[in-house]
Amino acid sequence: MAFTHRPLNAGIGAEVLGLRIDGPIAEKTAQDLKTLWLDVGIVLFRGVGTSPEALIELSKCFGELEQHPLEKFRMPGYPDLILLTNQNGPVGPVYEYDGVSTYGRIPWHTDLAFTTTPNAGALLRMVQKTATGGQTGWVDTAAAYDDLGPETKYRIQHLEACYHFTTDLADMRFNNPGGKRVVTRRTDYPSYPPVAHPLVWTHPDTGRKILNVSTLNIQSILGLPGVESDALIQQLIDHTLQPKYQYIHNWENNDIMLWDNRRTMHSASGHPMDQIRIVQRSTIRGSVSMGRII
Ligand SMILES: [Fe+2]
Repeated sequence: MAFTHRPLNAGIGAEVLGLRIDGPIAEKTAQDLKTLWLDVGIVLFRGVGTSPEALIELSKCFGELEQHPLEKFRMPGYPDLILLTNQNGPVGPVYEYDGVSTYGRIPWHTDLAFTTTPNAGALLRMVQKTATGGQTGWVDTAAAYDDLGPETKYRIQHLEACYHFTTDLADMRFNNPGGKRVVTRRTDYPSYPPVAHPLVWTHPDTGRKILNVSTLNIQSILGLPGVESDALIQQLIDHTLQPKYQYIHNWENNDIMLWDNRRTMHSASGHPMDQIRIVQRSTIRGSVSMGRII
């Protein structure tokens, strides 16, 4: 089973063509897919398979799958998958922006940035898209690092940032999207201790340097006065979020997007609360600790 690929119309990523998953994926194909993933950061698969089994088979090409720690988020009958939907009501914050109650909005972040070992990657399969909204974006944090000036690279090379688990968008210190909370804040999340990560990660598989400024969770830079810390974080976020590093995906049903969680941040635009969206997700386990508990 061979495939070809072409660049996405953006500064990052590729679309796989000619792949069809209707059984086990050959080892050579799996290796080629993993090589492509590490090379381009995000990969779009269109219409390669329409079942949870196809998503699982594809996901296993990129590493060991990690189940959600909370059983209630696992997909019934498929514990390796997470079901993300508002069809039974909201399970996350709902905010009103410009008069529209919006569900599922998650600003730019690296998954599990508030732990010492972020996952290596993840895949999303769109089962039921919404008529409006619902885009997902990715940004290339390796390209963002490459383009920094030599003075900035020197300044940040040994700095560490502090990350906290964020239970609500209102907690964000940087790039807070504002809005008016429509449902009450949830209080049943587990607690996580603050962690410190290098501002510059070295990718464990490719060796590339990566600018690590997950906007959802970042709090401060260790050892810098508050004003200086805040200014540097905002400067690095503004640099990283330039459109030239981004790809914004407008979903079709049965699209699958794969990303490298070490080399990208992603964001969800959210969608009107009165529209139903159904997404399946798998998570590729991270094997290398990138930070430390403070
Ligand atoms: Fe995420």
